[in-house]
Amino acid sequence: MKLMRVLGGEAVWPPPVWLMRQAGRYLPEYREVRGQAGGMLNLCLNPELAAEVTLQPIRRYGFDAAILFSDILILPWALGQDLRFAEGEGPVLPPITCRADLAALSLERGVAGTAPILETVRRVRAGLPAETALIGFAGGPFTVACYMLDGKGGGEFPRSKMLAYEDPGLVEGVIELLVEGTVAYLLGQIEAGADCVMLFESWAGILPAKQFRKLVIEPNRRIVAALRSRKPGLKVIGFPRLSGLLVGEYVRGTGVDAVGLDTVTDPAAAIAACPPGTVFQGNLDPLLMRVGGEALRQGVADVLDGFRGHGHIFNLGHGITPDVKPETVSALMDFIAASSPAV
Ligand code: CP3
Repeated sequence: MKLMRVLGGEAVWPPPVWLMRQAGRYLPEYREVRGQAGGMLNLCLNPELAAEVTLQPIRRYGFDAAILFSDILILPWALGQDLRFAEGEGPVLPPITCRADLAALSLERGVAGTAPILETVRRVRAGLPAETALIGFAGGPFTVACYMLDGKGGGEFPRSKMLAYEDPGLVEGVIELLVEGTVAYLLGQIEAGADCVMLFESWAGILPAKQFRKLVIEPNRRIVAALRSRKPGLKVIGFPRLSGLLVGEYVRGTGVDAVGLDTVTDPAAAIAACPPGTVFQGNLDPLLMRVGGEALRQGVADVLDGFRGHGHIFNLGHGITPDVKPETVSALMDFIAASSPAV
């Protein structure tokens, strides 16, 4: 598996490629299955259909990795917090406001609730070509806690950020539960057939440095350490989106093998900030997938050049958007395949 070779420190050209949100609304075959399932949550909880949409982009484009089709908010749902995906609005949850709300959630229930997702992992692994890696994932505890405490996305989570100052014990309690739940959930995914795992800490970048260390680095470090103590050699990709100058500290502090970079991070700056041997994932501007043509070709060349000589997994800096034409993804794959080899 090309992706696993790169995560193991081998130089590979052209780099392996997959795209965040590669199974999604830009694909007509995804929209059809989602309609059949009756919405996003039902789709995540239906192993047959979730496995089918995970495999769709692999069949169409031959990506080097499949990412489990699910969502980072399935874990809080499984722990006992209501969740719905409102059309055009994103996820909505009844916000956690006090210790009683937190105490109503249960780790035991979480383990049982994620069983359908683990069944999806088994089915996907059985349906994937041997050379295609399967990436399991969970949200980073801070990012998931933001949705649990604010009850919705769409902003910079003012409630969560204020609570982290006003009632740090409550926020730490939510994060503690998520660390434990995430370790169990990711171990389950690995045992079901995931080849490596990724932590989506998408809202890492809204915190001041001191809070970033406490609420992002430390919980991510604990997850990585707990996973490795049970699965030595396990490869973990971290995605501390918008962490800017703190990206190197994140990699050193958490012990992740690879780091996903957002669109605005300059590859050279990230390389300089991270320890030698760090593998980078990213970071083409997702907007270029709407622009296409020569601008896309140039953007791809810039990303490839930016990581030349370093372990690199080609990806976007954030998820592919529903308005991208499926044929633009084929063009992207052609540009990568035709790029000049690393020296
Ligand atoms: O990358 C993949 O293809 C794997 C599946 C995946 C989804 N969400 C499917 C999804 C993954 C890895 C995620 C992660 C996720 N979910 C994150 C972290 C990554 C990021 O984007 O920053 C976050 C913050 C969420 C929470 C979430 N889920 C939001 C904010 C939304 C609404 C935005 C939107 O695009 O509608 C979702 C819904 C969601 N998750 C969809 C998909 C395919 C769209 C659902 C639909 O079909 O209506």
